[in-house]
Amino acid sequence: MELICTKKELKEKLDACREKGLTIGLVPTMGALHEGHASLVRRSVAENDVTVVSVFVNPTQFNDKNDLKNYPRTLEADCALLEREGASFVFAPSVEEMYPEEDTRVFSFAPLDTVMEGACRPGHFNGVAQIVSKLFYAVEPHKAYFGEKDFQQLAIIRRMVQQLGIGVEIVGCPIVREADGLALSSRNTLLSPEERMRALTISRALFESKEFACGNSLSATRAFVENYIKNTPGLELEYYLIVDGDTLQEVQEWSDTGYAVGCIALFCGNVRLIDNIKY
Ligand code: PAF
Repeated sequence: MELICTKKELKEKLDACREKGLTIGLVPTMGALHEGHASLVRRSVAENDVTVVSVFVNPTQFNDKNDLKNYPRTLEADCALLEREGASFVFAPSVEEMYPEEDTRVFSFAPLDTVMEGACRPGHFNGVAQIVSKLFYAVEPHKAYFGEKDFQQLAIIRRMVQQLGIGVEIVGCPIVREADGLALSSRNTLLSPEERMRALTISRALFESKEFACGNSLSATRAFVENYIKNTPGLELEYYLIVDGDTLQEVQEWSDTGYAVGCIALFCGNVRLIDNIKY
């Protein structure tokens, strides 16, 4: 495995791979890697000759300066994990390398980006589109891997590659959970032991709502989750919406969609967590 920090060196190495006819998989990450990322890397290693993992905390997707400052950075441990999982290249550029000048591109993925995370985190998906498109141009991967925990991000990246005409196959991979159900997230390391216990309520509420949903209306199921969270001290619900998994627009009745997904965002103390469940 090689650690690369510039686009020029990355291009040289990958051009050599392409000349040999090798296929390239890309796993974009912001580092602080956990088993969820490892599952994406394993999938890429299984499906491609060469796997590039980018580790870059992208400033343009943070709408909260403190969140950017506190985001965990653990490159050494990340490289150890990636070596174990069989990645070929780790691409860990500086901010100047990725943004030699300000990226003034403005994307619109309406109505996918006007709801949920797009509504709560202004500019977030524009920043995601800026960096992911730059990574696609730098790596030119055959396939790119994203986790379904960021359900809306995955839908928006699929739309972005259509809009920009980028010939990469986007592969969505299932959420990986702790044994007790908490969805893995780099932000989980920021939770105090007490907050970590409270955060367990999120997956419990979602799993139990799936049982509740059999025989109950969509609005009752939404209220079930909302009340579950509101009745847990220390958790502050930002939204719980049941949406159509393709359009990301809210649905009012189960019969409105064949693909209902419940998406939640909340604060556990100062840590913002998201999760989702397919009904
Ligand atoms: O999901 C993430 O970790 C980030 O949003 C991504 C896709 C690596 C872009 O910075």
